Amino acid sequence: MLNIILMGPPGAGKGTQAKILIAKFNIPHISTGDMFREAIKEGTPLGKLAASYINDGHLVPDDVTIGLVKERLSKDDCANGYLLDGFPRTIPQAEALEVLTKEIGREVNYVINIDTPKEELVSRICGRRVCKKCGAPYHIVNVKPKVDGVCDICGGELVQRPDDNEEALNIRLEAYTKQTKPLLDFYAKKGLLKTFSGKSREELTPQLLELLEGK
Ligand code: AP5
Repeated sequence: MLNIILMGPPGAGKGTQAKILIAKFNIPHISTGDMFREAIKEGTPLGKLAASYINDGHLVPDDVTIGLVKERLSKDDCANGYLLDGFPRTIPQAEALEVLTKEIGREVNYVINIDTPKEELVSRICGRRVCKKCGAPYHIVNVKPKVDGVCDICGGELVQRPDDNEEALNIRLEAYTKQTKPLLDFYAKKGLLKTFSGKSREELTPQLLELLEGK
């Protein structure tokens, strides 16, 4: 069974690779960023709270995020594996995840870290466009859609995320360095961490598939 955490700084390509892996292995994609953006779109109380943090680049408080993931991971569709993207992001989140997954017998067996140099992250994030409808990521230079401004997959409009600007990105990178990077050591000590560095999308995907198909 594949119970995966996908880690990496903002713009590393977590969402891009996640979409390929979940289709290949038929497991649910649990992206806390996507869950928050969905709540923001729907204008729910969670969305209003999340927007006040996300749009400026700050992390949403742990209690809110942990509660959301607990509820999601306990659903039946996670019984045969899952892919967590963007969670955990702090040590308290990782500790809560460990307790929960033990309780429900769905312990993490792969932590994949996509390591990417900072200069590359800035150009990826500032050039990213996402589909308003299905969330598929594109890039104005690296990953162009067939028709300008239109999603190849669902025909939705391509837009820029409110937190995809240099100012918010600096705050996101600082949060990553201070709060999320220590998790690499946390998972390395458990023998779960596999790091892949600075690769193109085309190079990285087969390497991830090779790792996961070995299980
Ligand atoms: P989240 O949505 O998780 O954002 P993130 O971690 O900042 O990651 P991104 O979605 O920006 O990047 P990605 O790594 O998925 O890259 P992508 O594949 O799109 O979180 C957003 C916010 O929600 C957080 O800031 C926080 O406020 C809140 N939040 C979420 N989870 C939380 C948690 N656990 N706790 C607290 N708060 C939380 O690729 C980026 C671009 O590069 C695209 O344009 C893509 O086409 C291109 N690209 C991808 N791969 C490559 C490649 N190999 N080569 C060249 N270009 C590439």
